[in-house]
Order: sequence, then C-alpha cells, then structure tokens
Amino acid sequence: MDSKKMGQMMKERREEVERILKEYLPLVDGPQKTVLEAMVYSVLVGGKRLRPIFLLETYRLFGGAENVVEPFAAAIELIHTYSLVHDDLPAMDNDMYRRGMLTTHAKYGEAMGILTGDALLNYAFETATKAFSYTSNPYNVGRAMQVLAEKAGAFGMLGGQVIDVESEGRPDMTLEKILHIHTMKTAALIEAAMMIGAILADASDLQIKAVEQIARKVGIAFQIQDDILDVTSTQEVLGKPVCSDMRNEKTTYVTLQGVEASVNEVKRLSREAIEEARNLPGDTEYLVELIRLLTVRDK
Ligand code: IPE
Ligand code: IPE
Ligand code: MG
Ligand code: MG
Ligand code: MG
Repeated sequence: MDSKKMGQMMKERREEVERILKEYLPLVDGPQKTVLEAMVYSVLVGGKRLRPIFLLETYRLFGGAENVVEPFAAAIELIHTYSLVHDDLPAMDNDMYRRGMLTTHAKYGEAMGILTGDALLNYAFETATKAFSYTSNPYNVGRAMQVLAEKAGAFGMLGGQVIDVESEGRPDMTLEKILHIHTMKTAALIEAAMMIGAILADASDLQIKAVEQIARKVGIAFQIQDDILDVTSTQEVLGKPVCSDMRNEKTTYVTLQGVEASVNEVKRLSREAIEEARNLPGDTEYLVELIRLLTVRDK
C-alpha cells in the first residue's frame, strides 16, 4: 500500500474512533461533574487510538459488520486511558505531561487523578454492556467482556504494572523478566483488542488463539519501541516526558541491550507478526501495513 493511501486510511480510522468515543462519553453534569469532566479531558486530549483501531480492524477481517463492536472499541480506549492516568500518578511514574497536555492528576489534583482512573475503568464496562442491546448473539458479547476483564486485570495489564513498579531500581533484571512485564503490561490490552474483534465476529477458537499470538508480538514490539522513544525522542514529539524510565530507575529492553539491538528486536517481532497476520481471513493489507508502521513510529 502506498504511503498516501495508508495515511488517508489511518486518518479515517482515527476519525471513526473519535466519533465512537464521543458517542459513548458521559455528559459532564451533576454534583460529581469534576470527575466526568476529567474523564472526558483524559480521553479526548488525544492519543493514537491504536487499540480500538486494532479491535475494529480484526472484527472486519473476520467478516463482522454490526454496531455491536462499537461499545467495545470505546471500552478498550477507556481502559487504556485509565491505565495511563494511573501510570502517570506521583506514586507511579510521576509524569506531568501526556498526549501533549497536562496529565490528569497535574490538572485536577492527585485525588481526582485516582478517582478519574477508577471512574474510567468502571465506565468502560458500563459501556461494553451496551453491546448486549446491539446483538442477536449475547453469548459472544459475554465472552468478549470476560476477555476484556481478564486482560486488563491482575492477570494482564494491571499485573504487569505491579511487576513493573516492583522492579524499579533492581539490579537483577533480566531480559526474560522485562519481556514478561511487556507481555503483561502492554501486550495484554492489544491481545484483548484483537481477540474481542475476532470473538464478536464469531471467529473459531483456533482463529482467536492465532490472533492472540499476533497481538502479543505486536504488543511486545510496541513497548520496546516505547522504551526506545523514551531515550531517543523529545517531549515535543512524544507529548510526554522523555527519560521517564531513567528517572524512575527502570531497567528496560533498551538499558539492557542498547538502542540498536532493541530496534532490531522490534523489527524481528513485527516481521513475525506480519507473516502470521497475512494468514488471517479477509484483506489483511491494512493490518499488515499498520503493524509495519508501528516499527517506525516516532510517537
Ligand atoms: C502508551 O500507549 C503506553 C504504552 C503501553 C506504551 P500509547 O503509545 O498507545 O499511548 P496513546 O494512547 O497514543 O497516548
Ligand atoms: C505503561 O508503560 C504501560 C501501561 C500499562 C500504562 P510506560 O510507563 O512506559 O508508558 P508511558 O511511557 O508512560 O506511556
Ligand atoms: Mg509506567
Ligand atoms: Mg509511564
Ligand atoms: Mg514509556
């Protein structure tokens, strides 16, 4: 696919996600409106919207063409945003900028930062349940909700954040431990995104497994690239502080292996993911190009 067409498709997909998010975000009103305002702020302030894009694309690849997917596309971005709001808190990475704007706790105070993250997480599931009213197959909606809950929680993203925090400043970090953290804290949500797309489109168990494997490779590569950008990019480009990992004494793939080997690993994992993605049904060109683009992303 030529880069102009890909650029156009990326723009269309992002706009589709923005439209869905706006449809499902809460009305900012009532005595608790501070938290509602902070939720809307955190979500609408920007972001690449990759997880909903992966979710929608996987759904389409498996032949899905209904509205049932939309509440889940919103829900995964709400959960991702909650994870960022909490990740930036003083007790965690203590970062003041995100997506080019003040982080939620920096703008609304720490208590409201905690509550906004909690509210986004709850609201994500509230939103996902709306899919029940768009489907004749509530069983698949239930399965998708189970995957969302599991991959976001203590056995997925949140579990990864726990190990990540406990690994700060430790001299005994190995590549194996880092890859385990990456798999949990970052790949798990991307796995959820693609698996949910496949489940809602009624893919087979074998196909769902194949999708999970692809997403895992994409997710690990994505976090290695994030760690690379933390040392090679600028705050202007990234929209978030650089050298956050060094400041928090995090051992990353980059601190252990260096930038060049990390770049090569991102490429290797992505090549494998692309080979596997080509075997999925439907026209995989956009998905393949998206995975490839992530290896050269600068934010
Ligand atoms: C940042 O995710 C956190 C990681 C898992 C590396 P993104 O890079 O997808 O952040 P946004 O959504 O585009 O801001
Ligand atoms: C966070 O990883 C991954 C999450 C689950 C939020 P990082 O701490 O490296 O993410 P950034 O760099 O702050 O976006
Ligand atoms: Mg972190
Ligand atoms: Mg962080
Ligand atoms: Mg980072």
